[in-house]
Amino acid sequence: MSSTILVTGGAGYIGSHTVLELLNQGDQVIVVDNLSNASEEALERVKKITGKHVVFFQADILDKAALSQIFKHNQIDAVIHFAGLKAVGESTQIPLTYYHNNVTGTITLCQVMAEYNVKSLVFSSSATVYGDPQALPLLESMPTGLPTNAYGHSKLMIEEILRDLSESDPSWRIVILRYFNPIGAHESGLIGEDPNGIPNNLMPFITQVAVGRRDTLSIFGNDYNTKDGTGVRDYIHVVDLALGHLKALEKLKTDAGVFTYNLGTGVGYSVLEMANTFAEVSGQPIPHQIVDRRPGDIAACYADASAAKNDLGWTAQFDLKRMCKDSWRWQKNNPNGYKD
Ligand code: NAD
Ligand code: UFG
Repeated sequence: MSSTILVTGGAGYIGSHTVLELLNQGDQVIVVDNLSNASEEALERVKKITGKHVVFFQADILDKAALSQIFKHNQIDAVIHFAGLKAVGESTQIPLTYYHNNVTGTITLCQVMAEYNVKSLVFSSSATVYGDPQALPLLESMPTGLPTNAYGHSKLMIEEILRDLSESDPSWRIVILRYFNPIGAHESGLIGEDPNGIPNNLMPFITQVAVGRRDTLSIFGNDYNTKDGTGVRDYIHVVDLALGHLKALEKLKTDAGVFTYNLGTGVGYSVLEMANTFAEVSGQPIPHQIVDRRPGDIAACYADASAAKNDLGWTAQFDLKRMCKDSWRWQKNNPNGYKD
């Protein structure tokens, strides 16, 4: 039976890919996004790919009155909550903005959901909540660490708020998804990651070097205790991640409480492996230089994703070459992102 899913932040990178998969499985989708880090064009492209309609409200999740109107006039079954600010470096410069947007925004959303008796929620958390891992691979039961930035703190705070909420009212159904490092794009090449300004993350930087927008990739340190000295991460295809949300919604149809899952592949690749694999797949050289470590970075981080497999029936399907291929198709076809 089809459901109506409200997706906050649905015009963003992971949100737009998830909206697409929801539409493909026959759900109705309502997107709420303030477009602070996204373009409405992403939703136009999703409509083009799927041939289906998306209801869009340009609204801020901090705007309780606006949210209330949306809940009042629409029968919503569940919410997937992507809306948030996510730039780690920026969060250390403007922490209050990050806490207000991410934490207060989530509280406001939950207040309105409770008011309209919509108590099914999937929340975007991050592997950053583990801090510097004591052991690898990371299991959900391992202690959450001390994130080194306001962004990470905001995710950890929200997780705790959601657990308290469920304890106070066990009728809530909440899945917390801890994403590892999403990359890739939909195979159509029509939607993808489109960061503002200089990319903070590795893959968009690599694709911008490949397409000629930047000269050289700076590799942040080659003296880590890893296979080749460069940082190791668990990169996951954004479509696999999107499909994880659909599985999470299934779980919420049957179970109340709070459930926390890692979404990763379980495999770690180094920065050098990423640059080399991308160059091989795209045929574009990726000139690089080694520079100092980036403050706050950890050596290695990858998931044990067996809980999501056992409980949700979800596993990542796409390998690294496919992730690179899809990232490249998107960037090549849209050298300037959605501005093209
Ligand atoms: P994104 O910036 O592309 O998407 C976030 C969306 O939320 C944007 O479209 C933005 O305009 C919107 N938004 C922000 N604040 C809002 C507000 N107050 N009201 C309404 N809309 C608002 O980022 P993404 O990569 O798609 O990330 C989605 C979620 O996943 C975020 O919560 C992020 O913290 C989390 N996450 C991302 C990563 C990653 O590496 N991309 C890793 C772990 C977790
Ligand atoms: N890196 C470079 N050069 C760059 C960019 C990154 O060498 O120009 C390296 C980093 O040092 C790290 C790896 O590439 O070793 C990945 O860096 P990203 O910035 O792409 O990703 P992070 O693992 O640092 O952080 C990402 C998100 C966070 C999230 C975290 C865990 O940006 O929001 O994954 O999910 F919390």
